[in-house]
Order: sequence, then structure tokens, then C-alpha cells
Amino acid sequence: MIQLFHVTKRFGANVALQDISLRIRRGEFVFISGPSGAGKTTLLRLMFGAERPSEGQILIDGINLNRIRRVKLDMLRRRIGFVFQDFKLLNRKTVFQNVALASEVLGERQSITRKKAHQILRAVGLSSKEQAYPLQLSGGEQQRVAIARAMINNPLILFADEPTGNLDPEITKEIMILFRSINLRGTTVVIATHSRDLLENTDQRIVTLNRGQIVS
Ligand SMILES: Nc1ncnc2c1ncn2[C@@H]1O[C@H](COP(=O)(O)OP(=O)(O)OP(=O)(O)O)[C@@H](O)[C@H]1O
Ligand SMILES: [Mg+2]
Repeated sequence: MIQLFHVTKRFGANVALQDISLRIRRGEFVFISGPSGAGKTTLLRLMFGAERPSEGQILIDGINLNRIRRVKLDMLRRRIGFVFQDFKLLNRKTVFQNVALASEVLGERQSITRKKAHQILRAVGLSSKEQAYPLQLSGGEQQRVAIARAMINNPLILFADEPTGNLDPEITKEIMILFRSINLRGTTVVIATHSRDLLENTDQRIVTLNRGQIVS
């Protein structure tokens, strides 16, 4: 479970998030929506422990991110997948290596890592690109590598920041089915997006931000 209590985040004089209280249950599927600059990315980064709140508390499964030690935070993050808005792929590694690495760092056996990497790359429709390098891919293909990498370890929580921003409607549909299926297997899924398409065709909970505040 993810809990935020009166969280405010400032960057200098700029208030990115103001007095956010929010509870996301284990196994929930939630969209964070709102216009550009509303604070969606900032909210995900705070819940991932990549940023510290200026005020307020954030708890993941009862663990207070303000109090946790660096080593413990790293351990917690290994159970969390994050699809970055700008992908953050390693350009000197192949698609396959980018995805497999996320499993290797957990100390997974090589044979299992390989099997899982092939499997998840097939699921995102990139089997034929395994040996390509990120810069040889289209934006949508890079985005799908980032999604595969975030999903390979069956994380407890999956945060995805605008994960379908570069995808056409057909692939978007397939990726959303993938998010649904990982959610059905128990992963809590939190997706930040301003895509009307995604938001109109869902019965999932939608948290709407505007200028750093929850408006619905
Ligand atoms: N590192 C930073 N330094 C200074 N200001 C920042 C920083 N990160 C975010 N902000 C500011 O916080 C506000 C919220 O930004 P954020 O990236 O969370 O918005 P967003 O909802 O994700 O927008 P988008 O839909 O364009 O991705 C913006 O006003 C932005 O300028
Ligand atoms: Mg953003």
C-alpha cells in the first residue's frame, strides 16, 4: 500500500505539489491525470523515493520513505518497476541486454533471466529487435523496451510515466492489456498520463491533478 500524508514539493519558489493526501491500495490500478506541468511526474518520483517531499510523509507498505536508509531504499526500489517518461535506456547495450540487466542485478540465474527477457520482449512485440541498440529504434519501440524492463521482475508496484505517449492506438491497446495482466497477477499499477484515449476507455480509478493539487 502507498500512503501520502499532506505532501508538498517545492522547487525553489515553484510549488510542484501542494498538500497531497492519497492512498493507493495493494493491487490497485490507478491513473494519475492532469495537464502538462500539473505534477504527475513529480508525484511518481516522490512515491519512488527519487525525490524527497518538502513537507509531509510517504509510506510504502508501512515504510516511511523519509526515514529509510539508503541501502534499504535501494532494496525497496528493486521491487518497484518504473517506466520513465524519457525511457532512460542504456544506449551502449542492446535491447535484450537493457531488459535482462534489470533481472541480473537481482542476482537471478542467467538461464531464468534469459527466458524472462525473451518472454517479456515477445509480449511487447519486440522479439525481432532484441539485438538492436536503443538509438536504432523508433520512439515507440524504445518506449516498449522501457516497459519490458520495468516489468521483467514482476514488481510489487509498477509506476509508468506517460507510457503510451509515443505509441499508435493499436500498440497502445496491447500495452494496456499487458498492464492489466500484470495487475491481475498482483502488481499495483500507477500510470501517469494525459491521454484522453486511455482515460475515457477505462473503469479504473483516476486521480486528477491540476497545478499541484488533487482536483478529483
Ligand atoms: N527538477 C525540477 N526543478 C524545478 N522545477 C521542477 C522540477 N521538476 C518539476 N518541476 C516543476 O514542477 C511542476 C510539475 O512538473 P511535472 O514534471 O511533475 O509535471 P507533469 O504533470 O509530469 O507534466 P508533463 O505532462 O508535461 O510531463 C512544473 O511546474 C515543473 O516546472
Ligand atoms: Mg511528466
